[in-house]
Amino acid sequence: MLAFLHQLSDGLDVVVSNAGISINRPLAQSLDRYHDFTRTMALNYFAPVKLLLSLIPLLAKKNGHIINVSTINALLLPVPYWAAYQASKTAFDTWLRSAEPELKIKKICVTSIYLPLVKTPMIEPTIAYRTAPAMSPVHVSEIIGHALYSKRKVYKPWWLIFGQWASVSFRTPLAFIIPRLIMKKERERGNV
Ligand SMILES: NC(=O)c1ccc[n+]([C@@H]2O[C@H](COP(=O)([O-])OP(=O)(O)OC[C@H]3O[C@@H](n4cnc5c(N)ncnc54)[C@H](OP(=O)(O)O)[C@@H]3O)[C@@H](O)[C@H]2O)c1
Repeated sequence: MLAFLHQLSDGLDVVVSNAGISINRPLAQSLDRYHDFTRTMALNYFAPVKLLLSLIPLLAKKNGHIINVSTINALLLPVPYWAAYQASKTAFDTWLRSAEPELKIKKICVTSIYLPLVKTPMIEPTIAYRTAPAMSPVHVSEIIGHALYSKRKVYKPWWLIFGQWASVSFRTPLAFIIPRLIMKKERERGNV
């Protein structure tokens, strides 16, 4: 794909980093699954970094635009069972935010889109999400489309600010409450 893109002598207008993999798995079931962590990092972090390192000169030619499809979890207190996914999505979010000032001086614009739950095949394996409120993929496409011309730096749901506030303000009580919630869940499943 990079070989093809480098044939575009005029440069590149937009890169949307969307491909991703998620894994919801307790630590107890991950002890022999190191590959879960390497494969989430490979797709959610190393792949977009590798693509962008190669594409930055092409984007610079056109005052281009990078749109990262991220998750609200990257801005919230990490939650159990999602360590592989959250760590890898947060890694790329941090990389892009760190690179952003250097991209800006090359006139490359960056948009980070922090999505809540979206009704796509990604959430199908998680039973609890089947009835949870979720955005439609069409709505997400509209947000990405809008970002293409508004060039806004960040999209996040309006209510996320309360989650971010709670993540900071209640970090200590949540560290006390969350293990108890997990213990209750594991007891109900008969795992403890
Ligand atoms: N769904 C949610 O609730 C949610 C919430 C927040 C953020 N997001 C983010 O939204 C983005 C899109 O996810 P989605 O919900 O649309 O998930 P999805 O339905 O599982 O789609 C995943 C996408 O990633 C591509 N992909 C997977 N492995 C790949 C690989 N090795 N190489 C290239 N492409 C690969 C898939 O392409 P193929 O179809 O060709 O396999 C597919 O287009 C992800 O970055 C995800 O983290 C999703």
